[in-house]
Amino acid sequence: MSKRDDSTAGSNSMWGGRFAEGPAAIMREINASIPFDKALWRQDVAASKAHVAMLAAQGIVSAEDAALIAGGLDQIAAEYEQHGVPEDWDLEDIHMTTESRLAELIGAAAGRLHTARSRNDQVATDFKLWVREAMAAADAGLHALQVALVTRAAEHAASIMPGFTHLQTAQPVTLGHHLLAYYEMLDRDRSRIADAHARAGQSPLGAAALAGTGFPIDRQATAAALGFAEPTRNSLDSVSDRDFALDYLMAAAQAALHLSRLAEELIIWASQPFGFVTLPDSLSTGSSIMPQKKNPDAAELVRGHSGRIAGCLTSLMMTMKGLPLAYSKDMQDDKPPVFEAASLLTLSLAAMTGMVAGAAFRTERMRAAAEQGYATATDLADWLVREAGIPFREAHHITGAAVKMAESKGLALDQLDLTDLQAIDPRIDARVFAALSVEASVAARASYGGTAPDQVRAQLAAARLALGLE
Ligand code: ARG
Repeated sequence: MSKRDDSTAGSNSMWGGRFAEGPAAIMREINASIPFDKALWRQDVAASKAHVAMLAAQGIVSAEDAALIAGGLDQIAAEYEQHGVPEDWDLEDIHMTTESRLAELIGAAAGRLHTARSRNDQVATDFKLWVREAMAAADAGLHALQVALVTRAAEHAASIMPGFTHLQTAQPVTLGHHLLAYYEMLDRDRSRIADAHARAGQSPLGAAALAGTGFPIDRQATAAALGFAEPTRNSLDSVSDRDFALDYLMAAAQAALHLSRLAEELIIWASQPFGFVTLPDSLSTGSSIMPQKKNPDAAELVRGHSGRIAGCLTSLMMTMKGLPLAYSKDMQDDKPPVFEAASLLTLSLAAMTGMVAGAAFRTERMRAAAEQGYATATDLADWLVREAGIPFREAHHITGAAVKMAESKGLALDQLDLTDLQAIDPRIDARVFAALSVEASVAARASYGGTAPDQVRAQLAAARLALGLE
């Protein structure tokens, strides 16, 4: 059938009793959610099967009708699996599409499936089931990226690179330490997802249109059959709540934000002036005009996608803002941003995992960069405090003078002569040189959570345990 034809063929069979004429083409088009909510077909079939089994157990429908309905739903699932879900705008959404097919297959008994429920609790249930699965998928993707980070961090627990603040060389750090910083961000993301998953643990099914139902349903039974911990407690809230989707989007947006920061670092590190990393060819592209170019496109797209995912969160927040209880049709717009964010996040996590796993870190370039830029100046100041008993503020001043001298001579700090250093402050002696190498600098930072290779190895051991790798 043509989707845009004006309907003159009478009213919609599901709510047609009250309407004299069929919907205009424009109404059919704005009303139809089947183009996107067909993605919910698995959840819709599962929820309908749980519902009808409960109706039979409660004596609300006969065992024969329930068996017919369940058999029909199985057949529909097999059809959808094989041929996809048909898109007929007159049938509006996945719920009516399935129910109408059920009527074709089993006849009048199909009409008993919708006893004691409404599309309002049905869509809330289907969508919540879908979002719970998306949460599990996000957790798995984050876990895989954490494994890649931990694996690379273990190779580079003692590889030295410049640590930055303001993107200016600050102090030497280890690459393993830097990578484990992202492990920690992703750990918080996973904890946010776990919280959101637990909070999405109540089944809305049985709230019906908004007020509950007069039929003697068993909401505990359908909740348990669908893997929820319990039913929701307030029927009005049940059909108007989309917090579970917002919780997911907030966690997804925050995770995407973390990915964008890592992507940005890889982009900077892969640039020629830095040269800290060579990204895998499989996740880069060339230029059609500049033969020498190898562009970090996957990282740039991860950075870009994070903005779109944050946009999805904003989109649903704006949809829900100011809606009165209970269900309003605006809420049909809840699904596209969630579906979009989920596929962007899955792809971004996979691309980032590939880049981290396949990156060739150029540790000699990193080390050389750490040796430039007077990254061990703080170590000189700390040495003056520790070995010469000088107050830190004064030590800071003396060190500033040493950096200035080194700069004017074009030398690193540990390349200055002792006599030069002693001209700045006579309390400096030859032992200072041991503190000025980048190795000594990172080894000294052995406070809990610090960058010293031994600390990094301790954090790695804990991370491997938490990831189930030990
Ligand atoms: N397609 C609708 C949605 O996604 C289903 C609920 C329709 N309920 C209603 N009262 N019109 O929200």
